[in-house]
Amino acid sequence: MSPGKHTCKPNIPTISNSNNLSKMQSFHLFLLLSITLGSVKIGVAQEGFCSAPSILNADSNSRPLYWKVTNPTLSPPHLQDLPGFTRSVYKRDHALITPESHVFSPLPDWTNTLGAFLITPEMGSHFVMYLAKMQENSISGLPPSGVERLIFVVAGEVVMTNVSGSSHKLKVDSYAYLPPNLEHAVKSDASATLVVFERRYSKIENYVSHQIVGSTDRQPLLETPGEVFELRKLLPTSLDYDFNIHIMDFQPGEFLNVKEVHYNQHGLLLLEGQGIYRLGDSWYPVEAGDAIWMAPFVPQWYAALGKTRSRYLLYKDVNRNPIL
Ligand SMILES: *[C@@H]1O[C@H](CO)[C@@H](O)[C@H](O)[C@H]1NC(C)=O
Repeated sequence: MSPGKHTCKPNIPTISNSNNLSKMQSFHLFLLLSITLGSVKIGVAQEGFCSAPSILNADSNSRPLYWKVTNPTLSPPHLQDLPGFTRSVYKRDHALITPESHVFSPLPDWTNTLGAFLITPEMGSHFVMYLAKMQENSISGLPPSGVERLIFVVAGEVVMTNVSGSSHKLKVDSYAYLPPNLEHAVKSDASATLVVFERRYSKIENYVSHQIVGSTDRQPLLETPGEVFELRKLLPTSLDYDFNIHIMDFQPGEFLNVKEVHYNQHGLLLLEGQGIYRLGDSWYPVEAGDAIWMAPFVPQWYAALGKTRSRYLLYKDVNRNPIL
């Protein structure tokens, strides 16, 4: 994008010697200025936000689902060059990791894939959450022994094949849960972006988890007593599973009723929209592409703002006695 495209210098005549102007001249000047400023206002309204890239004005209906995750407006390109600027925050009981601070490097055990770990046990979590940017002819590695994995496609398309030789094509909004020690490979011929969750499976007697493949739009809407948001869960709620992934939708202006404080931990990726996330005593403006770590018991609350639906994806540990 050429920088010249978004210049917004209004063409206001320079005022010199204004002290010497007669009252009549001042009045004329006032009129002229009003008209000039008025037309500048219209110009700004038509042009959109002057300093922002043209992507802001693009018709979002023509874009693929979740395109904002990999094309956030508040990170590159127009804020990339602002020295030292980031919205990212890292505190004892929460973190906000925004796209301008993502650091990608080759993922160990994967081929042609760059990864950015957004949440890891060094923060206090018992899981990892990372973005995997697969390139041409890329292939996943396996998680360590005893570790389960969930992949969710946010851009592009991949094929997941398991040890039995069964393959599933996974498009944007599709996901696969792989139980611990299930051999599998995720392959991509072109670029694709996944968000991946992994944790050491917490085994309890007589229960075992199985491979699950699905997509958000095929999951039923669930009851949310006392709340207005729409909820889907990507995994069964049975005791076989020690975590779940919630997909939560809010229309602009909707917010969580409960100001939650609980033992569960969360990893969140905002897939669509904008809003305010409260974490502890801090209130963060957030938008699609932002990731959040919530430690157990951090006070948490969300309000959706902006003009479009907010949708986020939320890891939550469930079904296990916390003393285990
Ligand atoms: C491999 O995938 C197929 C198709 O989804 C599934 O039926 C089968 O159970 C999977 N194999 C294992 C060992 O989980």
